[in-house]
Amino acid sequence: MVILYPRGKISPLQEKLFCTLGGNIHTIAIDSDFDACQALVKQAFDDEELKQAIGLNSANPINISRLLAQICYYFEAVSQLPAAARQQLVVSVPSGNFGDLTAGLLAKSLGLPIKRFIAATNANDTVPRYLSNGEWAPNPTVATLSNAMDVSQPNNWPRVEELFRRKNWALPTLGFGAVSDDVTKATMHELEALGYTSEPHAAIAYRLLRDQLQPGEFGLFLGTAHPAKFKEGVEAILGKTLDLPEALAQRADLELLSHNFAPDFAQLRQFLMALPE
Ligand SMILES: Cc1ncc(COP(=O)(O)O)c(C=O)c1O
Repeated sequence: MVILYPRGKISPLQEKLFCTLGGNIHTIAIDSDFDACQALVKQAFDDEELKQAIGLNSANPINISRLLAQICYYFEAVSQLPAAARQQLVVSVPSGNFGDLTAGLLAKSLGLPIKRFIAATNANDTVPRYLSNGEWAPNPTVATLSNAMDVSQPNNWPRVEELFRRKNWALPTLGFGAVSDDVTKATMHELEALGYTSEPHAAIAYRLLRDQLQPGEFGLFLGTAHPAKFKEGVEAILGKTLDLPEALAQRADLELLSHNFAPDFAQLRQFLMALPE
């Protein structure tokens, strides 16, 4: 397994989680952003010789099997709601690559009673701008507090549009919005006062839900990471210390085993070709 990630653009603990494993898990820090990592992966898939030579397959979140697994938590969440809420349910999804949102739409297409979704992004707002003016115009990716959503060319967006088309759902029923870092911080404080310690991604989803929920609707927002995964940022914003859950604590002091590459396909290709069978 080879994992690419943008150097210095994920949280230190996030990096520890998967870059300390070793064995047959190779991690490569790319000197660029998430979009550059995705472009390298796509280049690898366009390289027939490489694909054949190493039996290339993808995961996270290009591979549909990742989305299939993500469908389950929508069913789990809805199963915990009172029956009345299920008739008027609005789900707000923090979105970067739009994998979670695609999984939610797949859950709805399987029959899960979700009235509508809200696609919530940070300042990397290609999709909210597209939904408001019909123009697909990605800007350069900018670094934000919700760094797992720092994606300006989301891979799963074509799947979202295709699902709406096939199911005859009107795209304008999809709620959307982009939340700045300042508003994200204020919203984390708001959630803290309500007794919920949130990391920045979930706070963005909550913010748009609370701003856009209509009378009679019932809201649900996704938060897909423990706040300690973004410990430094969350502690600085909320001014409190977070305990590490066991799985994170075990890895926090291990050595990083990552390679460091430029965003250069030739270098990646050479590395992949040299991997042992
Ligand atoms: C904590 C968190 N929230 C939200 C997202 C966005 O999910 P997606 O890329 O499927 O839109 C991610 C993606 O890695 C994430 O790590």
